[in-house]
Amino acid sequence: MTLSVSDQRGSLDKDPIAKAAVKDANGPSYPFYYPYFDAEEKFPPKEIFEFIDPGSRADPAKPHLLTANVTTKDISPYIGTEVTGVQISELSKDGLDELALYTAERQLLIFRDQDFKDLGADRQIEIAKHFGPLDRHFTAGNVKGYPEFVVVYRDADDDRFRGFVGSNKTNGTKWHSDVSYEQQPPGTTFFFILDQPETGGDTLFLSQVEAYKRLSPEFQKRLEGLRAVHSAVQYGEFSRKRRGPLRREPVETEHPLVRVHPVTGEKALYVNPTFTTRIVGYKDEESEYLLKFLFDHMTKGADFQIRASYRPGTVVVWDNRLTAHSATGDFDNSIRRHAVRLTPLAEVPIPA
Ligand SMILES: [Fe+2]
Repeated sequence: MTLSVSDQRGSLDKDPIAKAAVKDANGPSYPFYYPYFDAEEKFPPKEIFEFIDPGSRADPAKPHLLTANVTTKDISPYIGTEVTGVQISELSKDGLDELALYTAERQLLIFRDQDFKDLGADRQIEIAKHFGPLDRHFTAGNVKGYPEFVVVYRDADDDRFRGFVGSNKTNGTKWHSDVSYEQQPPGTTFFFILDQPETGGDTLFLSQVEAYKRLSPEFQKRLEGLRAVHSAVQYGEFSRKRRGPLRREPVETEHPLVRVHPVTGEKALYVNPTFTTRIVGYKDEESEYLLKFLFDHMTKGADFQIRASYRPGTVVVWDNRLTAHSATGDFDNSIRRHAVRLTPLAEVPIPA
């Protein structure tokens, strides 16, 4: 029996991966990474692991990463450097160690013209695993058979991000540090673009190191020693309501409000308006008062923020321990943006 075109479309609509895999000029450039949501997928609870930051092994001169061919341009004095003339895929283990250190020092690196998106899932995972065991997100779209990928996808039919932010908002800014509710949240994090709008779809980043430094010594003293709760419950509820996956029960974790980077020793604020819900030991009003101040301080500090833009082949690497970021959904609904994150987990946050 031959299916009519409309029958084929009908069956494909029920299977988005098959739909995306159809060689269609209007489809995603990399259908393999179409977001996959299996409501039956389950992961065991996480266990504490020992973590040694690869940056601790790196030669501070970075001879394997910053070779004679490489040019670097700082985006702002406090955060971000654009790096050209190196392929992440060709770095030795020493080079990857140096990449961890350089990312910690600059907090965010933008690599242009990378072949990373074409390496295949196994090799991409192998590189990212150098930086820590990879997070498997408990609700986000992943790749069938590869739960280590977090897929960020939006096109005319699919805008999960807007769904999460809510439609009754004046803007879609949502500052966060990825999965900060995990007991061992991520460090060096990889994000590579597959399809991008001509203009727009940048990621905003801010330096939590500089945000901390801007506070008075007296105020810094009051923050150190405090702990805050980071919660995955809202994320879990969002997925549950959409009948999406809940691969693990949502966790709530206490982290120090000021954490120390294990390699550079720098102090950084570690709170964010998306996942941090309250200050441990404070009464409700006290907690709301302090968190409101900290969120305003971080997010209004345009002089310690940058935008990372995307072109074909761009890979952005950031240290989630020292930064916060937000997507910008400023491009037309009909335009596809497709990107993938690999999220190596790091140490239990070290209090200042
Ligand atoms: Fe994120």
